[in-house]
Amino acid sequence: MEKNIAVIWGDCASPEIVRQALRVLDKVAEKFGHTFHYIDTAMGGEAIDKYGDPLPQHELDKCLAADSVLLGAVGGPKWEGLPGAQRPEKGLLRLRAGMGLYSNSRPAKIWPQLAPASPLKPEIVAKGIDFIIVRELTGGVYFGEHRTDTLPSGEKQAVDIMPYTEHEIERIGRIGFETARKRRKKLCCVDKANVLDTSRLWRAVMHRLKDEYPDVAYSEMFVDNCAMQIVKDPAQFDVIVTENMFGDILSDEASMITGSIGMIPSSSLGDGTRGLYEPIHGSAPDIAGQDKVNPTACILSAAMMLRYSFGMAAEADCIEAAVGKVLDKSLRTADNMSEGCTCLGCAAMGDAILAEM
Ligand code: IPM
Ligand code: MG
Repeated sequence: MEKNIAVIWGDCASPEIVRQALRVLDKVAEKFGHTFHYIDTAMGGEAIDKYGDPLPQHELDKCLAADSVLLGAVGGPKWEGLPGAQRPEKGLLRLRAGMGLYSNSRPAKIWPQLAPASPLKPEIVAKGIDFIIVRELTGGVYFGEHRTDTLPSGEKQAVDIMPYTEHEIERIGRIGFETARKRRKKLCCVDKANVLDTSRLWRAVMHRLKDEYPDVAYSEMFVDNCAMQIVKDPAQFDVIVTENMFGDILSDEASMITGSIGMIPSSSLGDGTRGLYEPIHGSAPDIAGQDKVNPTACILSAAMMLRYSFGMAAEADCIEAAVGKVLDKSLRTADNMSEGCTCLGCAAMGDAILAEM
């Protein structure tokens, strides 16, 4: 097959991991007889520096014209002083919205080899950690109005609005049920229905949907309790469906208990097969340029792209198996290092994964 992939190199340590992911994709192309064309695309800090805009229309157009998009991570201290609408993160939010990617899937699965790197007690880890957070990605408070006013008293007041419509909830709710159907058939809707109207609307819509999926065991949990349950008894979860901000927060927590945020990929999809694939971690400015960052989450994101956008299951399996073999050999990066293992840099981890393919 021949595929066009828009590649967003990203900021700070991000180009280091993207470089390794492209080496892995090149290896897949060679091994399985595919051709991948990479279209360099600027978004985030790089686009601000080049064009004064975190996502100019011509760069969004490249993503819309591609078969899929691979991204590292954007943002960094250099752009922190900018107003909200001009920050690198805004480019990412506009990209997700511009591509219509309302469904973000973030697997929290522990690689058994990384159990010692989990901060949880061994007896909790032993019960297994394997769940997916289905995060609504183009609505809620990240996309509502943001405003800072000065009150008559001279004091400033900031307002962020969290809107959700029924159809936005329904389409992500369905993805939650469909995802659960392909797994252990348990779906938990996470919200704050004891306080928020948006959460009460989520529950009303989910109640309508659940009758259509009688084979899925449906439950509900408040987000504060969920944050606690994820560290107390993560084995109880199969699929969590939740709104944008709760999903952002819980997915960082969920990644940490699997040993390292440096291992977790994600997929963002809308109605078609064109998606955006990115690690869930940030651009790691503290270690940028030091060849220390773990490229695995970006490499596994490339594998997700092959599986979900291109229907290349064997190719994705090949990458994931190679990552497993590298871990079997006790090769690690600084973020998930444990006693008795060998700590590699970013490029050397890329080499190690390529060698196992
Ligand atoms: C993530 C990130 C982004 C988000 C930021 C960079 C806008 O934290 O993908 O989890 O909040 O969605
Ligand atoms: Mg986040």
